[in-house]
Amino acid sequence: EISSLNLIASTQSMPFSHNILPRVLSFYHHWKKIYGSMFLVWFGPTPRVTVSDPALIREIFVLKSDLFEKNESPALVRKIEGDGLLSLKGEKWAHHRKIIQPTFHTENLKSMVPLMGKSIEEALAAWPEKMSDSGKIEVEVSDWFQKIVRDVITRVTFGSSYSEGRAIFELLAQQMVHATEAYQKFFIPGYRFFPTKKNRISWGLEKEIRRLLLKVIDGRRRLRSGGVPEEVSGECPDDLLEVMMRAADESAPPLAVTPGDIVEECKTMFFAGQHTTSNLMTWTAVLLAMHPQWQEQAREEVLRVCGSREIPTKDDLAKLKTLAMILNESLRLYPPAVAVIRRAKSDTQLGMLQIPSGTELLIPILAIHHDPTLWCHDVHEFNPARFAKGVAHAAKHPMAFMPFGLGSRRCIGQNLAILQAKLAVAIILQRFSFELSPSYQHSPSVLMLLHPQHGAPLVFRKL
Ligand code: HEM
Repeated sequence: EISSLNLIASTQSMPFSHNILPRVLSFYHHWKKIYGSMFLVWFGPTPRVTVSDPALIREIFVLKSDLFEKNESPALVRKIEGDGLLSLKGEKWAHHRKIIQPTFHTENLKSMVPLMGKSIEEALAAWPEKMSDSGKIEVEVSDWFQKIVRDVITRVTFGSSYSEGRAIFELLAQQMVHATEAYQKFFIPGYRFFPTKKNRISWGLEKEIRRLLLKVIDGRRRLRSGGVPEEVSGECPDDLLEVMMRAADESAPPLAVTPGDIVEECKTMFFAGQHTTSNLMTWTAVLLAMHPQWQEQAREEVLRVCGSREIPTKDDLAKLKTLAMILNESLRLYPPAVAVIRRAKSDTQLGMLQIPSGTELLIPILAIHHDPTLWCHDVHEFNPARFAKGVAHAAKHPMAFMPFGLGSRRCIGQNLAILQAKLAVAIILQRFSFELSPSYQHSPSVLMLLHPQHGAPLVFRKL
C-alpha cells in the first residue's frame, strides 16, 4: 500500500535555488537518512516515489522491466523532444529502436571520426585571430561545444544530405527556443493553442521544418528510383534518414514507418543528443580547468598515444584510458540527465513494498551519483581514479553509476556521446592548456538538464 511508504507531504516550502548541487542534494541525503532509500516526494501536481536503492533499481530496469514503463511526457514537452524514441512506447518503440540501432553502432560511428575531427577543426579555426598577443583566448565553452555537437548530430542524422540537414536543424533550434518559452508558461492551460505572436512563429517554423524534411526524403527517393547512386562523401554510411527510409520501404501496417515518423525521430535526435553531449564536454573542460594535475596527466596520455597526428584516429581514441576515466567521473559528478521516471503498469511488488498501478517512480541519478553510502568518503570530489578498474567496479554497487539510464531504454546515443567528447577534449588537450576565467561562477543548475547557469568561460593558452 502506498500508505506504508514513508510520506513527505510537500516540499513546496523548500527554498528555491538554481544551484541545486549543494541544496537539493543535502535535502535528499537528509531525507534518505530519515526515511530510507524509498520515499514519496510530493512536488508539484504528481506524487513520486523516489527510489535510490541499487537493488530496487535493478528490479525496475532489469528483473521486472516489463512491469514498468516510461511516464507520459506532457504534449508541450513532446513538441520539443519530438514523438520519437524518447517518448514512444510498446511495439512502435521496439520497432523504431531496432531500425535506428545500426546508426549508433560503434563501427558505423567510428567511420565518422575524421568528419567529427573536421567539425572540431572548423570550430577552432576562428581562435587564432582572436588570440591576445600573449597567446591567450577566453571562450564560453558551453556554446562552443554545442556548435560542434550540433554539427556532428547533423552528420549522423542526415549523412550526405548534410547541408539541407544544417538548415533544418537551424530551424529546429529556433523552434525549440519558442517551444521552451511556451513550456515555461505551461501553467496557463492550453497556452500552446493561443494565437500569440510567439506561438504563430513556432507554428510557422514547425511547418517549414516538416516541408524541408519531406523535401530531403523525397529527393533521396527520386535519386534511388532513378538508379542514380547517392553521393558518397565519407559521411555516416547508415545515417538516421537512410535507416528510417529503408524501414519505411520494407515495413507494413500496423508498424508502417511514415514520413511523419521520420520527421519526429530527427527532432528527437536533435533534442536528445545536443545539449546532453555538450554539457558532458563543458563539465569535463571545467573539471580539468579546476584540476590541473589531471589535465596534465590526460595531456601526456594524448600526446603519447597520438604522436604528431593532428586528429586522433579511432584506434587512438580507444587507447585513451585516462580520458575515459575523466569522462566517467565528469558524468558521475554532473550527469546531464539528473533523473529518470518510470510508472508501474499494474500493482507490483518492489522490494518489500506493494506499488499500486500508475505510481510514478523517480530514480534520482544525480543524488545516487553523490550518495556517500554507495561511493567512498570522497564522493563529492573529482577523482577519476575510482574508474581505473572499469565502470562496474567504481562504486559499491554496479547500478550506482547510470548517466545513460539502464536496461532496454538506456541511451541509444551513448557511444556517439563518448566518441565525440573524447575526440573534442583530446584535440583541445593536444593544442592548449586551460584554466577557469576570473569571471567563471560555479552554478550547476537544472533546466531540463544539468548545465552551468552562468555559462563556462575558460581561458586557453596555446602550447
Ligand atoms: C535516452 C542520457 C546523449 C539519444 C537517454 C536516457 C538517458 C540519456 C539517461 C534514458 C532516459 C530514460 O530511461 O528515461 C544521455 C546523456 C548523453 C546522451 C547523459 C550525453 C552525455 C545522447 C545522444 C543521442 C541520444 C548523442 C542521439 C544523438 C537518446 C535517445 C534516447 C536516449 C533517442 C531514448 C532511447 C529509448 O528510449 O529507446 N539518454 N544521452 N542521447 N538518448 Fe541519450
